[in-house]
Amino acid sequence: MVIGNWVLVIIMRSITLSAPGKVMLLGEHAVVYGQPCLVTAVNQRLQLTIEQSDGEDKVETPEVGDTRFLDATIALFKEKFHLKTGLLKITTNCIFSGKYGFGSSSAVTSAMVAALSQLYNLNLSERQLFDLAYLVVLNVQGLGSGFDVAAGIFGGTLYYVKGGRVLEKLDNNILNDGAEIIVGYTGIKSHTVDLVRQVAEKKAREPEKFDRIMLAIGQLVNNAKIKLAEKDWERLGTLMDFNQEYLRNLGVSSEKLESLISAAKRGGALGAKLSGAGGGDCMIALARSDKREEVKQAISNAGGEALNMKLGAEGVKVEE
Ligand code: PMV
Repeated sequence: MVIGNWVLVIIMRSITLSAPGKVMLLGEHAVVYGQPCLVTAVNQRLQLTIEQSDGEDKVETPEVGDTRFLDATIALFKEKFHLKTGLLKITTNCIFSGKYGFGSSSAVTSAMVAALSQLYNLNLSERQLFDLAYLVVLNVQGLGSGFDVAAGIFGGTLYYVKGGRVLEKLDNNILNDGAEIIVGYTGIKSHTVDLVRQVAEKKAREPEKFDRIMLAIGQLVNNAKIKLAEKDWERLGTLMDFNQEYLRNLGVSSEKLESLISAAKRGGALGAKLSGAGGGDCMIALARSDKREEVKQAISNAGGEALNMKLGAEGVKVEE
């Protein structure tokens, strides 16, 4: 740009990253109360591009529907690192529909913390990125275990305790070795925050029973971690069924989830349960590889959408 005799150089930098969505395998809800869970990243990714140019601090987010997580991430980085951001233009592109509940907010947050770290040469480790992403989630939602941003940042399949108190990467290929997880979508939107609150009310009403359920879920997750490593699919399936029974008891299952779960079991699944907060979104079924098509068909026949996806996907990364 030429103004009079002056040449104004606007320096612009651009970076694109992607972060995976997630599927909860076992331990939802109990993870909010300090018990461990098993979560896996899925090959359904969200892409985020930031174009940064010098000038006054300003954020443009054309096409981004919900900017709360982006805004909160920028605010946190400004506060922590005293950044002068300049002009940021942010666009996102999600290859999975937000409707499935794979965590578009957690993927956006994971991609955004990593993008800002790169853009401003902060050299943050994965652990630091996770801690910041979890803070963003708490600042926006006020609750949550952070399992979703853990999957977004680290990827793979994780044994996880709230806030990253334990964060262990498990053998990644294990879930494609003789048996696999099939994901079935109910077609109904789940409202995570409402369901987490509803479960908290249950705790307030029946604290002792509630604590017993939480402990039992925690124990079955620990068992499942061992059975997963041993590839003891029968037992892992049974543990998924037990987990579902506890979730039903907590009141977070639904008619549609139950009908897809029973259909999957009738179709030959070794175990099946809801995945995530419940009420809707997705269920998962464990099937031996030779039963995969039958179980998928059973889910479809029951009115669900059997989704094709790979588990244990890579965490947040820079795209060329
Ligand atoms: O609905 P989702 O897929 O975001 O899963 C929520 C899982 C909970 O354990 C209920 C909440 C949490 O933050 O861990």
